[in-house]
Amino acid sequence: MAVSIQKASKATSDTSIVLLADKKTKWSAYQFTEKEVAYITRKLKDDEKLITVNQFDRLVCIVIPKDKKERYAQLEDMRMAGSKICAALNSHKQKQVIVEDVMNDSDAALAIVEGIALSNYQFLKYRSDAAKEKNTLETIAVNSKKLDKKELDQLSILIEATCKARTLVNEPQSYLSAPKLAEEIQKMGEEAGFHVEVLTKAKIEALKMGGLLAVNKGSQTPPTFSIMEYKPKGAKNKKPLVLVGKGVVYDTGGLSLKPTPNSMDTMKCDMAGAAAVACAMYAVAKAKLKYHVVALVPATDNRPGENAYTPGDVIEMYSGKTVEVLNTDAEGRMLLADALAYAKKYKPELVLDFATLTGAAAAAIGQYGIVCMGTAEEKTKNQLKKSGNNVYERLVEFPFWDEYKNLIKSDIADMKNIGGPVAGAITAGKFLEYYTDYDWMHFDIAGPAFTSSNDGYRVKNGTGVGVRLLFDFILNSAK
Ligand code: BES
Ligand code: ZN
Ligand code: ZN
Repeated sequence: MAVSIQKASKATSDTSIVLLADKKTKWSAYQFTEKEVAYITRKLKDDEKLITVNQFDRLVCIVIPKDKKERYAQLEDMRMAGSKICAALNSHKQKQVIVEDVMNDSDAALAIVEGIALSNYQFLKYRSDAAKEKNTLETIAVNSKKLDKKELDQLSILIEATCKARTLVNEPQSYLSAPKLAEEIQKMGEEAGFHVEVLTKAKIEALKMGGLLAVNKGSQTPPTFSIMEYKPKGAKNKKPLVLVGKGVVYDTGGLSLKPTPNSMDTMKCDMAGAAAVACAMYAVAKAKLKYHVVALVPATDNRPGENAYTPGDVIEMYSGKTVEVLNTDAEGRMLLADALAYAKKYKPELVLDFATLTGAAAAAIGQYGIVCMGTAEEKTKNQLKKSGNNVYERLVEFPFWDEYKNLIKSDIADMKNIGGPVAGAITAGKFLEYYTDYDWMHFDIAGPAFTSSNDGYRVKNGTGVGVRLLFDFILNSAK
């Protein structure tokens, strides 16, 4: 259960507080002892930006925002401070905290709340010592004059949605098969109020989704294709925004098996794109944003098996194009291609796909950003980049020159599913481009989707990357 976030009025003397303050703040207003004031003054002289006063039954954490050239970088500092505060509160066994916006800067106060709340996330479902391990923090209250209730509710929804995406990624494939993923999506639709249709194997066969079916051939479990739609009255857009998410619930590489140890171990994360788009839908619908959004999730596991698709196979895709498979581990583009071609029927204003698509994207920029590329208008790209900064899921646009198509030419089919040794993230994007005829951006989240160590509020394992980016982008588009 995510922490509860609410509006506060006045702190009592035994609840922990966070003071968003500056050097000029009058500490006498906060019942500090003389010794404590001396301590705070000393720390301020040392230019410390996070000062914690331990008053035994509670903690008082003072956050001093550092001047930064970019506002979004300052807000990220606030989230990171929130992460440290969360750890301190839990080790101090605190149940509640009140964030006091002394500076009258509600966005900064909200960023602290966001950092605390996202850091408090845990995945303890399979731990028998869960009761002992569980964080104590349950409630974050905010006291800020400028803050309106709607903003706070939106933040609360967004945190819940991000945590849902993390949990979907953290669930192993022993639980989260493709049919189970579809079921989870259906549950989210019921909860948040969007329509869900799940295409089962027979329908996927009838539609001739050759890419998705090829990847599924080695599996004992049928594929699914989930279609989500949220169409509120008074939506600002005439044509829908379509989201597409890679839903490979486990990627062994198939017959082109990934080497163990290491490269296969974390491949339950290969549905992080699906989690991002489904949970963004959840947040958008729950927050009742006035925007028409569709999301598509093709899902299967990718395994070797006696019937598995093999290198050398030629597959006829949903769009009618043919693909020579030269590596069964380049499976994501096979099922995304079918979903992207399917998206045409919505006559979309814009399509955004999220996928843990290539090791090359992860190798290029690591976990600190999202690789993107595509054919959307410059204005749209800039809006997306701005959202990326706002939520600190920064976007790096890769070149998308047509020459890269040379690298995926095939002798016997329309294209092959791998390029050469260079530009792997881009050739994967170029492959996908063949299945689009609308404005489109591709987001390769292989780097940031799953981390092996904590990075502030992006706690280790599934990060839920993409949910906050999409929500910010849709929120601003709906304005
Ligand atoms: N799921 C992987 C990409 C991946 C790598 C995700 C690391 C998360 C972390 C994808 O299906 C894959 O295996 N891609 C291959 C493509 C290659 C065979 C052309 C890769 O990147 O090595
Ligand atoms: Zn793969
Ligand atoms: Zn994969």
